[in-house]
Amino acid sequence: MTRFVMILENIGNLTTFNPDSGEVETTSNTSLVIEDGIIVENGSGEFIDCTGCLVTPGFVDPHTHPVFLDLRVDEVAMRKAGATYEEIAAMGGGINSSINGVRNASVDELIERVSRRMDQFLKLGTTTVECKSGYGLNTEAELNSLQVIHEVNQRHEMDMIPTFLGAHAFPPEFAHDHDGYVDLICTEMIPAVAEQGIAVFCDVFCENGYFNVDQSRRILNTAKEYGLTLRLHADEFEDSGAAELAAELGAISADHLMAVTDVGIESLAQNNVIATLLPGTTFFLDKDTYAPAKELMKMGVDIALATDFNPGSCHIKSMPFIIHLACKYLGMTVEQAFASSTYYSAKALNLEHVVGSLTIGRKADVIVWDVEKLSDIPLHDSGLPIKMMIKNGKAID
Ligand code: NIG
Ligand code: FE
Repeated sequence: MTRFVMILENIGNLTTFNPDSGEVETTSNTSLVIEDGIIVENGSGEFIDCTGCLVTPGFVDPHTHPVFLDLRVDEVAMRKAGATYEEIAAMGGGINSSINGVRNASVDELIERVSRRMDQFLKLGTTTVECKSGYGLNTEAELNSLQVIHEVNQRHEMDMIPTFLGAHAFPPEFAHDHDGYVDLICTEMIPAVAEQGIAVFCDVFCENGYFNVDQSRRILNTAKEYGLTLRLHADEFEDSGAAELAAELGAISADHLMAVTDVGIESLAQNNVIATLLPGTTFFLDKDTYAPAKELMKMGVDIALATDFNPGSCHIKSMPFIIHLACKYLGMTVEQAFASSTYYSAKALNLEHVVGSLTIGRKADVIVWDVEKLSDIPLHDSGLPIKMMIKNGKAID
């Protein structure tokens, strides 16, 4: 059988997190050999000249909500006029206003929307995306949302990792019966999601006004029994003890954390829960409070970065822009933000042995940049200087 070998040669700077040393390392004037989509030690085949170029792994975005019909653009203008995210939700906007779109759209229509969004992610250098359901909020529409992720994943170059987020908000039919919705999630939705066999993770929006700690615990324990790995939207707007819950339940990741307390940070650190930070959301919502990244790092918590792309609170798809925000508002260095957008973001998806670093045996998801060094990346928020994207060892347009 012939093997397909591609060699990136004369690479100006190859920059990757090295899992063995735990550091971001740069090797100059080097080459990278790819055989059948995997990085290997050596071989001969098709040469690609990378003189003067920076070469990095593709970005891994471990938190997005891409299954919806339309962006809620009106809410942007409402915020500019002074309304907060919470006020807009209370006025009938917010997560609930995206439900009708998903419930009334056909699966094919959603496949088309999600597929186009994945095209855009790929153009921005992202090669693996975690994708949540969560705008259907009944059994049928949630299963359909996961099916959409599955179908697009089959057809698209992008690697999409599905997460069940039935506990994203209380749908209107359960506005006065929150525990009834939690019952539905635990007795009907999670068993059906497990039987469908697509979702890898279960997430809950654990936040004052959404799912409280007891409801979140019940949902996540049920999900765990059905074999799903746990992650949480935790302490986004107010502290509700969600970080502590993530630690108690052994979640892989606690996300957002703008309002996390020192006790919450301590419990994440002690239980090896990754903190997935989403500075794009604070920025997009015109808020001032960013997650305490420096305290998290000081306590030894691993930090992943993600876009949180969704129809309401963040329309950003660009990981380079998230890196820029992380440097500006989270006090991270470019190297730290890069490691958190590649290796640690892969780790937040249990995929650090598969993607997120350019080391032997990993998948060849590679960006060849038209810039020379890592610190040039955040200077380009759009119109990215990407010369070539390689996904699974194949050059893509
Ligand atoms: O991560 N926090 C919950 N979910 C999203 C918001 C989704 C929406 O507004 O549609 C978030 O910010
Ligand atoms: Fe989110």
